[in-house]
Amino acid sequence: MARGKKIYEGKAKTLYEGPEPGTIIQYFKDDATAFNAVKKDTLDGKGALNNLLCEHFMLGLNTIGLPTHFIRRLNVREQLVHKVEIVPLEIIVRNVAAGSFSKMFNIEEGTPLPRPIVEFCLKDDSLGDPLVSEEHILAMNWASSNEIDDMREIALRVNDFLAGLMYGIGIKLVDFKIEVGRQFEDDLQRLILADEISPDSCRLWDVETNQKLDKDVFRRDLGSLTDAYSEVARRLGILPKNGGSTGPKLVE
Ligand code: TMP
Ligand code: ASP
Repeated sequence: MARGKKIYEGKAKTLYEGPEPGTIIQYFKDDATAFNAVKKDTLDGKGALNNLLCEHFMLGLNTIGLPTHFIRRLNVREQLVHKVEIVPLEIIVRNVAAGSFSKMFNIEEGTPLPRPIVEFCLKDDSLGDPLVSEEHILAMNWASSNEIDDMREIALRVNDFLAGLMYGIGIKLVDFKIEVGRQFEDDLQRLILADEISPDSCRLWDVETNQKLDKDVFRRDLGSLTDAYSEVARRLGILPKNGGSTGPKLVE
């Protein structure tokens, strides 16, 4: 499908104008960054894996009735999505202490939390995506009170779906980040899940061994990131059981 004009280039994805008004083509790059792009690399195969994994999660969420921006995967690296106005917040759900939560509260990584915790961070790389309160969100007009309720509901529905899906393949969903966008249809406006869900934006640990199968492999130099993502894809049945980063390559 012919791509339109480049609209936005992020760290892991590029957005192009889609073929019809109200659509966008989301292109998954092989670039990996961490710590606000202080650490960077290009990892052959990462974009294709994230495109496939994201498609799988978005299709599943659409099936259970959660509205998402996903329309269809176009090819190895691209998917067609609805255009939305992104809410400038990163919504994080945590089931198990890890990462910045463990640091902030000095709680050992791996400690189960008594209930899922929803956090909001301002989506602003120049500020390092700081954690913000509901008070901040309302006062600064980043989202309305109804939208905060909707964001929480969407985040917890995604958590229930993803945690169950992952448990079924022997993986613990430790935490994840999502973004939502405003979709305008006639006079109606609603929030839908946007951006991506992939091992770039989740923490996924093997249930038995706690082996990390997510971007922490890259952040913490724990081995091959694409091997870890391939393992998730194999367990989900998206890649053949004997396939992997050393197997046949996906052709662009
Ligand atoms: P954190 O523990 O570093 O705050 O990360 C929480 C979750 O959010 C984790 O699953 C990784 C994800 N995440 C992103 O998707 N993008 C980011 O920029 C950061 C910092 C975290
Ligand atoms: N997404 C951020 C970056 O690209 C941080 C992270 O995921 O660790 O640098």
